[in-house]
Amino acid sequence: MRKSFPAEDLARDARFVRISNEERFNDPRGPVGLGAQASKNAASGRNPQRLTPDRPDAPDAARSLMHGIFVGEIQALEGAGRTCWDFETGKGGDEAPFELKLDMARQCWDEARHVEISVKLSDHMGTEIGEFSENPFLYQAACNPDPVMRLTGVNRALEGLAIDVFNTMHSFGTTAGDPVLEFCEDWMLADEVTHVKMGSDWLRRLTEKDPERRERALEFQRVVDKLFSFGGFRGEEDDSPIKLARRFRELAGFTDEEIEEIKDISAEARREAVAATGG
Ligand SMILES: [Fe+2]
Ligand SMILES: [Fe+2]
Repeated sequence: MRKSFPAEDLARDARFVRISNEERFNDPRGPVGLGAQASKNAASGRNPQRLTPDRPDAPDAARSLMHGIFVGEIQALEGAGRTCWDFETGKGGDEAPFELKLDMARQCWDEARHVEISVKLSDHMGTEIGEFSENPFLYQAACNPDPVMRLTGVNRALEGLAIDVFNTMHSFGTTAGDPVLEFCEDWMLADEVTHVKMGSDWLRRLTEKDPERRERALEFQRVVDKLFSFGGFRGEEDDSPIKLARRFRELAGFTDEEIEEIKDISAEARREAVAATGG
């Protein structure tokens, strides 16, 4: 079986619609399914709009966001599976220790369960598989040739983002009075904290004696974090569409400084988005 499998060759049936990063970021409806109005507000520098049940477009925005989570779960499963396979077992720079592979195997089991939860939850919300598009960014970050980079790019940056999104959707489920949505998000959130913690632990363990490798991995994480700050959608204000889940991030091994840095990256992404639209 070949190593480092390209994203274009991932197995999907005819229901799935694949779009590129470029198409995703240029979508005028907004990149994360938060709805057209939220995107317009954020781009013009006005307060972005939080996902609340009283928004007229709330059902579609929530369904779109949930479909994005569903395809992200498939890719997280594929990425963790690849990390078990793509590297020889060992402690060298281009190898992956057995214990790391064991963590990735456990993660595969969790992600497979998340895919099932997401399919059932999407059905509950009235969404069909493939109704919204799929962008392979998470899996692409899992193609990095350095296992530490995979764990910072995927587990820390993107699953860190998943923590923020799940937490936001969990609150949405509570306010909307939908216990199915609320509990599904809660269960998946618990696992994501574990996955992000794995990323934090392995980053520190594998780069303990290699500060340069650590810096490269953290830089990769910053790039991914910035790319997926969605023009500053993520923040700590009451009206931030995606709320930075500070407490859960602490549990997942983020230091206070690292959480502050993500906040700054998001604020910077917002300033740039506003400047780009002349707002
Ligand atoms: Fe997951
Ligand atoms: Fe995960």
